[in-house]
Amino acid sequence: MDPYANEWLDFLARWLHVVAAIVWIGTSFYFIALDNHLGEPGPEAGEGVGGEAWEVHGGGFYRVQKYRVAPPSLPERLLWFKWEAYTTWLSGFALFVFLYYVNARTYLIDKSVADLSPAAAIAISIGLLVVAWIVYDVLCRLVQNELVLAAALLGLTTLAAWGCSHLFSGRAEYIEVGAMLGTIMAANVFLVIIPAHWELVRAKEAGREPDPAAGVRGKQRSVHNNYLTLPVLFAMLSNHFPSSYGHSYSWLVLMAMMVIGAWIRLFFNLRHAGRTVWAIPVTAALAIAGVAVAIRPAGGSAGGSVSGSVSFARVNSIVEQRCVPCHSAHPTKVSVAPKGVMFDTPAQIAAQASAIQQVAVTTKVMPIGNATGMTQGERDVLGTWIRQGARIK
Ligand code: HEC
Repeated sequence: MDPYANEWLDFLARWLHVVAAIVWIGTSFYFIALDNHLGEPGPEAGEGVGGEAWEVHGGGFYRVQKYRVAPPSLPERLLWFKWEAYTTWLSGFALFVFLYYVNARTYLIDKSVADLSPAAAIAISIGLLVVAWIVYDVLCRLVQNELVLAAALLGLTTLAAWGCSHLFSGRAEYIEVGAMLGTIMAANVFLVIIPAHWELVRAKEAGREPDPAAGVRGKQRSVHNNYLTLPVLFAMLSNHFPSSYGHSYSWLVLMAMMVIGAWIRLFFNLRHAGRTVWAIPVTAALAIAGVAVAIRPAGGSAGGSVSGSVSFARVNSIVEQRCVPCHSAHPTKVSVAPKGVMFDTPAQIAAQASAIQQVAVTTKVMPIGNATGMTQGERDVLGTWIRQGARIK
């Protein structure tokens, strides 16, 4: 695909994806908080009302009532909440295609991790999305105890993260696990929650009592989705955070951050239900500090050393060969220099020495997917040159 067209498709899909996800997550936060806020309905509440809440927003008061199962008769106009979920998934998948599948050799595959062809890597990636949903759905139907279910899902997500770390590049590994969980969330809406709502509506239309089990299952899945929001958001934003996906135990770092995300969500859900457990944010902050310390670059540089003084000519030829194909005013592998980072002149290279250290020596996330085949020896040369003062003369 033409890189310029690809860039626009990437941008448009990303814009839509972020907007739709904000709406969806906002709805999830709002309705779970509303459920947790519901109090005893007033004496004048209608028949079948299980709880109500008063809210003030946008210049007025709202009185929201939730029926235990369904109202005595269906209203004329009923609002549904589903397109934000579907749009998030569809735009997210499109973005995955435009970025990771169209440029599979650059973004999805890392030959030093697994020597996959683009077709194989893409097939595995799509297959995992489907398998994730099937395994999750079957487990939810089989396991009654929510704690056992949570433990099983945590174990399986860890297995998925570990497996993906042996199949894809670091950044693709994180996005793939995020996409697996995101697919579960969207499929929960499409295949469980919305059908449960249809059951309620159809039963009322047919004049029979709705089966409460469908509603209970819908509620369970919507709570799962709520706990998955922060973990999935971490995975989706992690591409700006090379120390995480570039770490040699990237899958463990991902799991730690995702568990912390769900833990933080629990704080809000308990608080909205009237219990404030300060131990949760305190332990979450400590855990994040623990992760930060655990993944810090060893001694400022993970790179080895080469003996003697490293000349700039040596560094320049490495950068020329391994970085400039992308990072240049006239790149050959991409349409424009990614993030505006260019290494065309000695001054540009010297000015960005610490960024080079971070991405090419410490974390090795550059060259992306090691597209230009950089060797460890070359990384050691760059690291030594930077330690010697990054001189260009
Ligand atoms: C195949 C193309 C390619 C090659 C080769 C490449 N990069 Fe990159 N680089 C990228 C892309 C794409 C991004 C943007 C990544 C993103 O979207 O987060 C990037 C981003 C960067 C950034 C900015 C990171 C940030 O998040 O701000 C730096 C610094 C960088 N590269 C340095 C290097 C160095 C040093 C080399 C050579 C050792 C190199 N790159 C080789 C494609 C490449």
